[in-house]
Amino acid sequence: MEGVDFSGKKVLLRVDFNVELDEDGKVLDRFKIESCKEALTKILSFPGVKVALLSHYGRPEGKRDEAYSLRALFEPAKSILGMQFSFADDCVGAPVTDALSAMKEGEAVLLENVRFHAGEEADDEAFARELAAPFDVFVNEAFSVCHRNQASVSTITKLLPSYAGMRLLLEIATLDSVRKRPMRPAVAIIGGAKIETKLPLIRVFEKLYDAVLVGGKVANEAIDQKTVFSGNVVLPVDFRDDRLDIGAQTVIKFNQVIRYAKTIVWNGPLGKFEERPYNAGTNSIVRSMIESGAFVVTGGGESVAVLEQMDVMDKMGFVSTGGGAMLEYMSGNELPGLLALTGAMAGGVEENKV
Ligand code: 3PG
Repeated sequence: MEGVDFSGKKVLLRVDFNVELDEDGKVLDRFKIESCKEALTKILSFPGVKVALLSHYGRPEGKRDEAYSLRALFEPAKSILGMQFSFADDCVGAPVTDALSAMKEGEAVLLENVRFHAGEEADDEAFARELAAPFDVFVNEAFSVCHRNQASVSTITKLLPSYAGMRLLLEIATLDSVRKRPMRPAVAIIGGAKIETKLPLIRVFEKLYDAVLVGGKVANEAIDQKTVFSGNVVLPVDFRDDRLDIGAQTVIKFNQVIRYAKTIVWNGPLGKFEERPYNAGTNSIVRSMIESGAFVVTGGGESVAVLEQMDVMDKMGFVSTGGGAMLEYMSGNELPGLLALTGAMAGGVEENKV
């Protein structure tokens, strides 16, 4: 979106406000909302512009369900972004056109959950047309949902001149650089639970990086399944209490590798971090990563939760907004949302840039 003149335009800005709230309605991962602030502020600086923020929230399965209303995020998002905006009760039709008419130039509106419509997850063209109808321009500032082939991410780019937001571009540039041109020694630390998503990631870094340290449930499963890895993949040598955390010897072994790293990609806790004392292994490894002085790239809900708990978000080199999207991208898979942006450019929506 660099160099684009948004003056006088009605802009549909795809964001990702799919964040966790605690029981008091407090946002747990504020930074995902914060990450659209730069693009939003930039777009709103043009004269005569009106912006609608479009997001999904949870998985309401294509129907209106108040438990997934973005109204819950309305006040927190205003406070996190430090600006006022209105709320529209739907993301298509009269509520949107009415809100745009009622708004003054230079203002924004948050639209209701796009996943209240079945057409969103089906990437339905008729629904995408409804979404696009009131707008002149589309900006995707939601890297974290680019692994989904959905109407507000994919088909919308065929219907409006479409641009990548600055944060989305930063995500791609940073993830590309650590994947393809890491400073060495480069170390990947992979934990978490889901072997089906983590194993492909281990396989990628096994080839690309100098060492891959594996912990968490994924390590337990790899050990049980007797998965064969190259010599640069390091599995735990001991555990605490029924494998709920990595053991002291493993922490020492991992730290010996981490100490020399110049680049670290970290995804997933190394034990049951949400329960004390099984957060000890993960916390110790996070402290070692910080002390190593390496450029640390991380992402995903659980890793971010660990960082927030330890209050060390600002000590990371880069925190991706993407959970699944980061995993897919780092595994070398094409993301439909990114393909759509570049495809729209090739398909003739002239001003499109990714
Ligand atoms: C995320 O939280 O990773 C994104 O918002 C995508 O959400 P989804 O997994 O429900 O598509």
